[in-house]
Amino acid sequence: MIENRGMTNSAFHQIVSETRRFAETAKDFISLQKLLVELIAERLPYYNWVGFYMLDPTDENVLVLGPFRGAPTDHVRIPVTEGICGAAVAQGETVIVEDVAADPRYLACSIETKSEIVVPIRAHGRIVGEIDIDSHALSAFGADDRSFLEECAELLTEYLEK
Ligand code: SME
Repeated sequence: MIENRGMTNSAFHQIVSETRRFAETAKDFISLQKLLVELIAERLPYYNWVGFYMLDPTDENVLVLGPFRGAPTDHVRIPVTEGICGAAVAQGETVIVEDVAADPRYLACSIETKSEIVVPIRAHGRIVGEIDIDSHALSAFGADDRSFLEECAELLTEYLEK
């Protein structure tokens, strides 16, 4: 599916190491989120929509859209009972959907989206939000994408727990 796996894996490593370095002096969590969104959107061409949804601190049953790159979405607030985004919170683990058209949970953001991966972010043992990625390619996300994004989520956890 992904034409140049070697280049992609090297982009994964660079993004993780640049984000780790930035996190050492980042002034707040949102600047760290923005950096990660920018690096991913610029360097991984099949990651067509990249963004964060964080649990609303005043209502932990709702995810709220954070920094993102890609087409604007109507889904600014998503109940944890809905969508692939809600499913990742409910299951407490990464969700990969190879073909969004075949998944009844899917909430459409763009008609171009074909596949999606959602990775929870934890702090102090609880889920606080997630990284959501859409691709215009079918089955775009596999084990390498999952490890990369889970490593990004872990960096965010470390920042939040500092
Ligand atoms: N597709 C997500 C909704 C968010 S948009 O893709 C940006 C879902 O099914 O939860």
